[in-house]
Amino acid sequence: MKKPTLRLSALFVSCASLLLACSQTNTSQTPINPSPGTSPSPAAAPQSLPGGNSGAIPIGIGVAQTSNVALLGQEQVAGAKIAEKYFNDRGGVDGTPIALVFQDTGGDEQGAINAFNTLIDRDKVVGIVGPTLSQQAFSANPIADRAKVPVLAPSNTAKGIPQIGDYVARVSAPVAVVAPNAVKAALKENPNIKKVAVFFAQNDAFSKSETETFQQTVKDMGLELATVQKFLTTDTDFQSQATNAINVKPDLIIISGLAADGGNLIKQLRELGYKGSIIGGNGLNTSNVFPVCKALCDGVLIAQAYSPEYENEINKAFREAYRAQFKKEPPQFSAQAFTGVQVFVESLKAINSQSKVSQKPVPELRTKLNEQLLTGKYDTPLGEISFTPEGEINQKEFYVARIKMDADGKSGKFEFLK
Ligand code: ALA
Repeated sequence: MKKPTLRLSALFVSCASLLLACSQTNTSQTPINPSPGTSPSPAAAPQSLPGGNSGAIPIGIGVAQTSNVALLGQEQVAGAKIAEKYFNDRGGVDGTPIALVFQDTGGDEQGAINAFNTLIDRDKVVGIVGPTLSQQAFSANPIADRAKVPVLAPSNTAKGIPQIGDYVARVSAPVAVVAPNAVKAALKENPNIKKVAVFFAQNDAFSKSETETFQQTVKDMGLELATVQKFLTTDTDFQSQATNAINVKPDLIIISGLAADGGNLIKQLRELGYKGSIIGGNGLNTSNVFPVCKALCDGVLIAQAYSPEYENEINKAFREAYRAQFKKEPPQFSAQAFTGVQVFVESLKAINSQSKVSQKPVPELRTKLNEQLLTGKYDTPLGEISFTPEGEINQKEFYVARIKMDADGKSGKFEFLK
């Protein structure tokens, strides 16, 4: 159990006071839109830092750049890269730039473990934004925790994430806070909803956690939980579960899964004739479901922890940068990844104002960074946030959006409900 820490200690001795010389990064070379299934280059030789500046502070980004989970992860890469440019354009950490180091986690636990080990042991990052899934976080975060490397979870919304360890905090509000908003919005839209069918991916920690919240909300609101159907995130055929659900004649169907499976499930429910309301959970909160369910995505309600229209200076800059690059509104996963980088940068600045970050040994800086980030208040694209001592996010603003597909069924958008 203690082996990683011991090995790290040995490395850190040789790196003591040499944070900058020891940092090796493959920065910003990863494609923003990798095709799911294509091979990543996680073990690519370290490359020189932007502008040849070998003094940049390495921050790890360990998210899914390949596999179906990249439907979420590619939005995180985009948000992190916008943050890197945004903060470096403004002087980084008091004149020292940051350099993001990307390691692809793929979509499973082992991929996340490998990426975290590389970020910690080889890339010597000061902290990690990642992984994409709660399912991965429960395996990879304990490694960072034991190595005393701060982790900011950019999208891990299952119950219990901050409790993994002292070095784990999240910028992604938990399902218990976010998910009930969608049920309330569905009822506001259609007060006649009485009977509810719930679906969840039984092989995914987040989906299991989110469905508990959804099922409890349904009961608390006096609705009838008529059936609970299970599937796997790897499933593509949902005919039998969809038929079971339709047979109970639900007015509302709630899905906790990920983007590819969730999108296919929506498609098959509609093809089988289901006409009632549908709520998608946080794992479906991406326009990358549009090519999966196409016109049949129309009308799906999804709770949001971010609104592009949130009014503050940093969101305005983030939104403009995202829209200039991608010609659409920024999604929640990008905004949360941006926020993760922001929290690290602002915390590094706060440390630097006391004593020079560049002169601290890596282990000391990681520990200091972890302590510091929990004490700060941050004005982010998500609004003003802070953390509980345990690392849970304090966030005020939440929203619900409805998917609005264009007539051709090819493109669409999230319309925020008033
Ligand atoms: N919110 C999803 C999770 O926690 C992506 O796994």
